[in-house]
Amino acid sequence: MRDSQLIIATAPAKVILTGEHFVVHGQPALAAAVDIYSKVTVKSNVPKNIEITSSALAITCKFSIKELRKKSNLISNDEVVEPLKYIVEKVLRKAGQIDHGLKIKIDSKIPVGVGLGSSASTAVSTTLAVAQYLNLKLTKNEVFDIASIQEKLIHKKPSGIDCTTATYGGVIFFKIGKDPEYLAPNDSIKIVVGDTQSKRSTGDLVTKVTKRVTKGDGEIHTISDSAGKLTMEAVKSYRERDFENLGKLMNTNHKFLQKIGVSTILLDKLVNAAQQAGALGAKLTGAGGGGCMIALCYPEDKHKVAKAIENAGGRSYIVSIDTTGVKSESLST
Ligand code: MEV
Repeated sequence: MRDSQLIIATAPAKVILTGEHFVVHGQPALAAAVDIYSKVTVKSNVPKNIEITSSALAITCKFSIKELRKKSNLISNDEVVEPLKYIVEKVLRKAGQIDHGLKIKIDSKIPVGVGLGSSASTAVSTTLAVAQYLNLKLTKNEVFDIASIQEKLIHKKPSGIDCTTATYGGVIFFKIGKDPEYLAPNDSIKIVVGDTQSKRSTGDLVTKVTKRVTKGDGEIHTISDSAGKLTMEAVKSYRERDFENLGKLMNTNHKFLQKIGVSTILLDKLVNAAQQAGALGAKLTGAGGGGCMIALCYPEDKHKVAKAIENAGGRSYIVSIDTTGVKSESLST
């Protein structure tokens, strides 16, 4: 890449229609990539060091190539920067250009820490942007493999659903250990996201639920099995365009998530408000404990549902399905 060129890569946010948490324990889930994006710009840096900046993530960091090489320096307490450093190092090595200086700017429109997959999306767009800048051709599978490491460092035991959605885009039927299946997106249905604007840690919530599963808590095993069956029915309803049934299943899924203790008073309030305003179904999305909920509705009801969410104390986003996943472009400056 010439010094006057820069690469921009974008990757979408995600929502989970059914199956979060249970997916970590082997059940299927239904997710969709949505049109809120992380954007990563990469250009050359002289002198040869690595600079990562992001106003959204409150990061400004500079480190030398030598620091990057020190393995001990890779894992520290900095949850945001360290995984990104890992990705940069991995891609530089794969490209055989470990001495290349890079300026990496992250501009994400995805609210952080609220269950919309912002860290996975940023990992995926950073991986592709750095690779393209170094003229390293990566398949989407390779982008996914590298970006997933960041998710493991941040979220401890992720299912991989966030990185899959950010990488490939579309509506995805996901199960650990199986190739994801892509369902044809449909414009006759809309998703409204309601953000409680209360940040939480996905890793901590996953750990909390996992403890109950590994203790052999019978109730959680029963709920998990029911959630798996619910996702299978949700996928069938989505394929058959039976959105009224899909909405009902989402309402039931929210009750399962309440039972395992990951909903909150405000999430319940936003879910109720959306249901009362005519949504076909509503539920929390992602890890819960704060963060976001989603409502499924007919296009003519989307503004009414969004307003009800706002009146109940949330911030609303009307979103569309992203069908592309991660992509990049090259610009001359
Ligand atoms: C996070 O978006 C969804 C969870 O199921 C965790 C995971 O699948 O990695 C809570």
